[in-house]
Amino acid sequence: SNSEGSYTQILNICYDVCMKVNSAKFIKEIASDDEILGNGIPQVAFIGRSNVGKSTVINTLTKVKDLARTSSFPGRTQRINLFLINGNTYFVDLPGYGFARLSHVEREAITDLIDSYFFHSLYKQKKVVLIIDASIGLTDTDLDMLRALEEHGKDVIILANKIDKLKNSEYKKQVKKIEDSTVGHPIIFFSSESKVGIKELTNAVLD
Ligand code: GTP
Ligand code: MG
Repeated sequence: SNSEGSYTQILNICYDVCMKVNSAKFIKEIASDDEILGNGIPQVAFIGRSNVGKSTVINTLTKVKDLARTSSFPGRTQRINLFLINGNTYFVDLPGYGFARLSHVEREAITDLIDSYFFHSLYKQKKVVLIIDASIGLTDTDLDMLRALEEHGKDVIILANKIDKLKNSEYKKQVKKIEDSTVGHPIIFFSSESKVGIKELTNAVLD
C-alpha cells in the first residue's frame, strides 16, 4: 500500500544518512597492554594480512587522508593505533599478520600483539572487521584468523577489499568463493580507490 511504501522510503533515507563520521582523532600508539583498552569505550578493530589496506580503510571511512599511516610496503603498521571516532567509539588499527619479509623477531612481536589483543585479554570488540583482498579471497592465514575469532565469540564482519582490482569477468566467481568460506558473517565489498562500500561499513560499525 501507499503508506507502507513511504514508510520503507523513510527507513531507506535514514539508512543512507544516519551513521556518519563527524570527528576522528588519533589518540595513542600502543605496543603492548594498555589500560586505555579497558576503559569501556566501544572498540571496532580492523585486522587482516599485511598490506591488505586496513589503515587505508580507516582513512577512507573518516575522510582524513593521513589519519592512519599507510604504505605500499607491507609491515607499515607495527603497533596498535587507537583513533577516537565521534567522541564515542575507538577504531583500532592493528598490524597485519602473515608478512614473511619481516625478521623472525618482528613477526613474533606482531603475532604476540595481535593474539594478546584479541585472545589473551579481557578487551571486548563491538565489531571485528576482518579485511581480505577480494581478488585473492581467504588465504590459509585468513581462515586461521577467522576460526580463532569465531572460537572467541567475536562479532566478525568480512570486508572484501580492493574490489577495484577485480575484473568484471571474475567478479561473480570471487563473490561466491568468499561467501562460501565465510558462512555466518556479513560481507561488505569495498574499495578505497573507487569509493565502494563506505556507507555500508559506516552503518555496520557505528551506531
Ligand atoms: P600494514 O599496516 O602493513 O599491515 O598494511 P595495511 O593493511 O594497513 O595496508 P595500507 O592501508 O597501508 O595499504 C597498503 C597498500 O594498499 C597501499 O599501497 C594502498 O594504497 C593500497 N590500497 C589500499 N586500499 C586500496 C584499494 O581499495 N584498492 C587498491 N587498488 N589499493 C588499495
Ligand atoms: Mg596499516
